[in-house]
Amino acid sequence: MKRKILIGNWKMNKSMQEAIEFANAIRDKANEVEKKNIILGIAPSYLCLPILKKLGGSLLTFAQNVHFKENGAYTGEISIPMLEEIGVRGSLVGHSERRQYFNETNTTCNLKLKALQEHQMNAIYCVGETLNEYEEGRTKEVIKAQVLEGLEGLEDEYISNLTIAYEPVWSIGTGKNASKEIASEICRYIIEVIASKYGEKVASGVYVLYGGSVKPNNIKEYLDDEYIDGALVGGASLKAESFLEMINSIEE
Ligand code: PGA
Repeated sequence: MKRKILIGNWKMNKSMQEAIEFANAIRDKANEVEKKNIILGIAPSYLCLPILKKLGGSLLTFAQNVHFKENGAYTGEISIPMLEEIGVRGSLVGHSERRQYFNETNTTCNLKLKALQEHQMNAIYCVGETLNEYEEGRTKEVIKAQVLEGLEGLEDEYISNLTIAYEPVWSIGTGKNASKEIASEICRYIIEVIASKYGEKVASGVYVLYGGSVKPNNIKEYLDDEYIDGALVGGASLKAESFLEMINSIEE
């Protein structure tokens, strides 16, 4: 049976002091659920990564972004070896805010995924259609291109260990979460797209998360769905109480 995954994406939020308080509040729970087939992780700012690694117990840590080069004249960027040095083993790739505000494309996401593969680091590859694309009925077309172009040239083994997050852009931070039916249909479609190119065996290892206005009061309906393996949560992951509430409802 696949494990259930809950990842919090803090975006550009929380001071280091607030990260310490969060880690202290959830550490015991993180250690407890590790034995119950639930994977918990947080993608904080780079500055808070060492804090969560030190104080978060079994909580996994992810970067929100990486550069695909090992080093060089890329002012303001962080490389994969820098993350390895502090023991971070994975990163988000292609979050819609990176695509929207920092011009990330399927091609740059592909370079990042290949670089992570080279370092045997985990990736949570984010895909999702904009409101316009949704209203024009182009969701599957957009998702298919994001998945196939993002994964182009990756090894089967790496793909079979990949996590993909379906996050419709119109549902992020808006309170307008996608219905369970939509989320389920697209998460299932992502697996179908991977299966049609890489085969059923590779596709069966891939985890697919839903993200977009997931809250303590709706997380369970998503995670009960057979095609949704977990959730990527922004706003509701910022408060330890609501993060704990979400863990509790997954456990039930
Ligand atoms: P949200 O963000 O939960 O605040 O909608 C989700 C995300 O951006 O990953």
